[in-house]
Amino acid sequence: MTNPAQDPVYIAEDLIAEDIDAYLLKHQHKTMLRFITCGSVDDGKSTLIGRLLYDSKMIFEDQLASLEHDSKAHGTQGQNIDFALLVDGLAAEREQGITIDVAYRFFATDKRKFIVADTPGHEQYTRNMVTGASTADLAVILIDARQGVLTQTRRHSYLVQLLGIRNVVLAVNKMDLVGYSQDRFDQIVSEYAQFAEQLGMTAFLPIPISGLAGDNIVTPSANMGWYQGPTLLGHLEEAPINVARMADEAFRMAVQWVNRPNLDFRGFAGQIGSGAVQPGDAIRVLPSGKTTTVKSIVTYGGTLDRAVAGQSITLTFADEIDCSRGDVIVRADAPCEVADQFEATLVWMDEHEMLPGRPYLLKIGTQTLTATVTEPKYEVNINTLEHLPSRTLALNAIGVVNISTDRAVPFESYAKNPDLGGFILIDRMTNATVAAGMVHFALRRSQNIHWQALDIDRAAHASIKNQKAKVVWFTGLSGSGKSTIANIVEKKLHAMGKHTFLLDGDNVRHGLNRDLGFTDADRVENIRRVGEVAKLMSDAGLIVLTAFISPFRAERQMVREIMAEGEFMEVYVDTPLEVAEDRDVKGLYKKARAGNLKNFTGIDSPYEAPEAPEITVNTVALTAEDAAEQIIAALLAS
Ligand code: ADX
Repeated sequence: MTNPAQDPVYIAEDLIAEDIDAYLLKHQHKTMLRFITCGSVDDGKSTLIGRLLYDSKMIFEDQLASLEHDSKAHGTQGQNIDFALLVDGLAAEREQGITIDVAYRFFATDKRKFIVADTPGHEQYTRNMVTGASTADLAVILIDARQGVLTQTRRHSYLVQLLGIRNVVLAVNKMDLVGYSQDRFDQIVSEYAQFAEQLGMTAFLPIPISGLAGDNIVTPSANMGWYQGPTLLGHLEEAPINVARMADEAFRMAVQWVNRPNLDFRGFAGQIGSGAVQPGDAIRVLPSGKTTTVKSIVTYGGTLDRAVAGQSITLTFADEIDCSRGDVIVRADAPCEVADQFEATLVWMDEHEMLPGRPYLLKIGTQTLTATVTEPKYEVNINTLEHLPSRTLALNAIGVVNISTDRAVPFESYAKNPDLGGFILIDRMTNATVAAGMVHFALRRSQNIHWQALDIDRAAHASIKNQKAKVVWFTGLSGSGKSTIANIVEKKLHAMGKHTFLLDGDNVRHGLNRDLGFTDADRVENIRRVGEVAKLMSDAGLIVLTAFISPFRAERQMVREIMAEGEFMEVYVDTPLEVAEDRDVKGLYKKARAGNLKNFTGIDSPYEAPEAPEITVNTVALTAEDAAEQIIAALLAS
């Protein structure tokens, strides 16, 4: 969850013209507040952002240039026209950028610099909102005073709370359209307060505003004498910044890269996630747990006596201990936990629903691991906050799941430290970010179950059988000939004195997997279990043959990865759909075509052909016998 925003260049005509040095000096020492604006469609978000940019008179250079151009083209000059054009421009720009990302806007006042994440309001843009909110210090939740609290208001508030933003402004907008009514304002605030309390949101600041008319944006409104609080900009200038809060926590830094310009220098670079560090501090490298002390803190500007949360630094150590990208450096006496199983909340952001058991890539801190997700413990209805039972998570759904990773990682709960508790899940085939997650805690079983080293290992099991353990994985459409060919292969191997076992889809589905059907999720689980069984049998020294459609690349890849290098042979039984359908040995294609069998592979459920199988057999050109010979030859040669 990185923020692409970089320090912008501003124009502040007056001060720059008068004294450029004074301007730059002043600017350099300003703090930076990141905030997000959340609103439903037509809440006046563009108008509000336009008003902040316009009234702070710090419009980003090229925006101003294009604005001047537009206003000349339209033959208009006055301030209101410029303002309207700016708002239109922002709205249009955001719509164009909608599918790509969040639009980040920059502005500054005499007191502070600001980055505002401008995200679209529709439900389908949860992804953008999560991206925008993940680095924000504060959220402005916009409400149209005529509409009051809407579903989207609740959705946005839930996400804001989930993502750990503790500084919330409830901006009740368009007060001019409700006659600046205090009653209306109070009514909305009390309705929102009820929902906020259910959410566990401890505080929020309500401000009555009009983005269009400028009430309570920069200057206190003359139209609402009954309101005594700060203006929106006034509050933005004073609100606390997360980095300051994180500086009080224990020291943590995820290593981004090892800096080794020459043999005499070995430094570990990263951004301090929380706490502070000084030369001489005792530190620990996780997950290894090795300890040493900090020798120096190096930056581009020279060495430092102390560095705090938010700073990017390189640390050198007093001792040569192992430390690499993805490791986390922590205070020796206050380490974070290390685990490989967690409970977490997931916000699902992909069109394809979550598939429990499928391996996804998980990025946490500066590490990328492989992870699988269990069926949700529950899904949250974010309007009522009810917990609903659910077998998967669809686009925009939020739920609580268990996650297991392929190795142990240092982490903290998201609530405590978003740097080490926030993660994303990535689809391994498409590279799309499919979910954002927040770690709650490690599962105790991950600490209490250890791998038991056994004396009679897999090599010992195989060698007494005088063979090499293998998994020969047949994949192909139903009726392609997988079982037929696998059966011949097994008979021939058996005759040669080999110890084999054939796992067949139809048979396994009568026993171990009789609880599974043919939805995508069930097929993923089918293959996950069969993969684990095949692995156990190969550990026992057997040559295992499997005959399952196994329609998804991701799961076949997963089985390949749990096997030792060279022990997995993927056999693609390449039979065109027309041929398999024509054979229709079990009469299932006919049923499927007639609409009496749902989710049938090749008809209304996908089959992803292997991209680089060890062997492809063409059952149109070859007999089953010949295909079996070809496979055995390859098997014995490997
Ligand atoms: S897999 O997709 O999960 O790998 P598997 O190989 O176990 O499937 O089971 C496939 C067998 O189940 C087929 O050969 C067929 O006999 C039967 N079957 C019943 N319903 C379906 C269906 N909807 N799609 C595919 N095969 C089905």
